[in-house]
Amino acid sequence: MKWKTYFFDTVDSTNTQARLYDVGSIVVAKKQTSGRGRYGRIWHSDIGNLYISFVVSQFGIQTPLLAFLFGVAVCEVLPEFSLRLKWPNDVLLNGGKLAGILLEQEDNKLIAGIGLNVTTAPHENMLYQTASLNGQITNEEVLKRLMKTVSDNMDLFIEKGFEPIREKWLKYGYGIGTQISVKLPNETLSGIFEELTPQGAISLKLNNGTRRLITVGDVFFDNKEMKEENK
Ligand code: BTN
Repeated sequence: MKWKTYFFDTVDSTNTQARLYDVGSIVVAKKQTSGRGRYGRIWHSDIGNLYISFVVSQFGIQTPLLAFLFGVAVCEVLPEFSLRLKWPNDVLLNGGKLAGILLEQEDNKLIAGIGLNVTTAPHENMLYQTASLNGQITNEEVLKRLMKTVSDNMDLFIEKGFEPIREKWLKYGYGIGTQISVKLPNETLSGIFEELTPQGAISLKLNNGTRRLITVGDVFFDNKEMKEENK
């Protein structure tokens, strides 16, 4: 895909700005005044980090699966940092959150916003541990790599469906086969993360032996190593 890129110094949110543009557009800003995350959370958006939104097509009921595609793309473009993914698409560096991805549907378009801590990690009032690349790479270089890899992965998804993206996700996915907890709106479930299903859900084997398919929720790792890192 040939992207058309719109650069801004400051916007409220690149995802909001992106609503104005057609499929194939990218909105990049140096700073956001109302950057937002999943579940209505704030995304701290000071100058220095990357704030970018891709406008792509929707794919009917398969649209939510693109969440995995963008998470995979971030890991693929930064092979030098050994990144991992926390279901569905939080990008982790040494257990801290390096990048977050917010998918929003608007008319017939999907807007995929990526916030990536290229220079600094916000630390104040954070619900989780954060990480940054400490400026070891430029925003421009990350953007250039992402444009190509997102485009390649979109082609793959259009041609072959979710399976090859799912396989790539499994290479970066953290905690598969281990004990995890998933915080749902009204309850927290614990069990073994058995697999990522072809629909992008977590198959969770509960401690009482039954299985639950998880399609929304926040994952926490129960293993000691990650707990230490996630503190
Ligand atoms: C999350 O992990 O909660 C998702 C964070 C997504 C942040 C990005 S920054 C660019 C785009 N614009 C926004 O307002 N949010 C996304």
